[in-house]
Amino acid sequence: MTTVKRSILITGGAGFIGSHLVRHFVTRYPNYQIINLDNLTYAGNLENLKDIEAADNYTFVKGSITDLTLLRTLFKNFDVDGVLHTAAESHVDRSIENPMVFVQTNVQGTAALLQVARECWTKPGRNYRFHHISTDEVFGALGEEGYFTEQSPYNPQSPYAASKASADHLVRAFHNTYKLPVVLSNCSNNYGPYQFPEKLIPLFIKNILEERVLPVYGTGCNVRDWLHVQDHVEALDLIFHEGKTGDAYLIGGHNEWKNIDLIHLLCQQTDKRLNRAAGHSQKLIHFVQDRAGHDHRYAIDASYIKRELGWTPRFTFEQGLAQTIDWYLNNSDWIAGVSSGAYRNYYLSKAHTARQNVKSYESAA
Ligand code: NAD
Ligand code: DAU
Repeated sequence: MTTVKRSILITGGAGFIGSHLVRHFVTRYPNYQIINLDNLTYAGNLENLKDIEAADNYTFVKGSITDLTLLRTLFKNFDVDGVLHTAAESHVDRSIENPMVFVQTNVQGTAALLQVARECWTKPGRNYRFHHISTDEVFGALGEEGYFTEQSPYNPQSPYAASKASADHLVRAFHNTYKLPVVLSNCSNNYGPYQFPEKLIPLFIKNILEERVLPVYGTGCNVRDWLHVQDHVEALDLIFHEGKTGDAYLIGGHNEWKNIDLIHLLCQQTDKRLNRAAGHSQKLIHFVQDRAGHDHRYAIDASYIKRELGWTPRFTFEQGLAQTIDWYLNNSDWIAGVSSGAYRNYYLSKAHTARQNVKSYESAA
């Protein structure tokens, strides 16, 4: 048996980025015990982790980051010495519909994690680290020129962005006030396999496949800076292990696309793979009412993480998008399960194992 070198709590590990992060840590660091805490909202899908769920160094716990009692038990029983905090409500449109759950999860949940880390991380000589995973949306919107940097002022526009900004401020406050060893990262738009089809890229691939309407908000001229999720995960690994305590790192792909141009590319590339005539799916494009308060442009200057930690994206957009479209086309069962809601049964079918895990941390109490 390998010696446990670290015990790391990854929150939100059943989500899109979280599941890539969990897989990466479980496979790259067999000496680390990885605890995935996720309360399985609509965005949490344990099927994303089927391939590693039986690994010796992996434990899933179903529960909320807002549950202080549960957090204290987990920190104590697993002797957690590292946190990678991805759990969040993450969809801007949902935050416009129902902001309160964003405040509960993103603000109160982050505060609860910080508080329990502060209470439990008292042993001298330990290598404690709390990595808060955030977004470029905290900086608001850019005009046609310029980039976000680590010095950009906070100016969040949507309830989602404001809740993430609040969480960032709490993380900094716990560092400043209690010397909690934190590090932050703010990333641009991610894409890749296992993304819930409410976000632009997976939603549009799904709709092209099913020949449904492609709803483009406003004029389609908003700009996003796209990064493959695996490149984000590699950056998180570096920041978690080598980032300077108290610092924030901006992560982005230097890969700006106007929504409408990206949508045309998705249509072309997906049609080609489906052997459809050129221009077939372009007919599905419909311009619809704009998102309220729609941020015009996000773009990251990632020179700090490149200079300090040597990170650079590995995927070109051409490779990453091709891999992503192929993945969704080859995993129509995953799309069908997510669309019908059947993905929720996966946890129920695994409840026995999950209960065993719960039992093991309860009995160690
Ligand atoms: P996601 O919505 O796919 O996954 C979120 C996960 O958190 C889900 O598994 C959900 O069940 C879980 N969760 C929600 N509330 C919880 C709670 N109270 N307790 C425990 N778990 C809970 O999100 P994502 O797109 O993977 O984003 C992950 C993180 O990265 C978020 O913090 C987000 O703000 C940030 N981020 C995302 C992007 C992006 O493009 N997706 C870019 C930059 C930063
Ligand atoms: O920048 C990082 C952020 O990127 C993350 O913090 C968020 O969690 C993540 O959801 C993402 O936010 P966006 O709002 O940029 O992503 P979304 O995929 O929802 O939308 C991308 C762009 O596409 C945006 O300009 C809105 C537009 N859009 C989106 C949808 C879902 C459409 O035109 N039509 C759509 O149906």
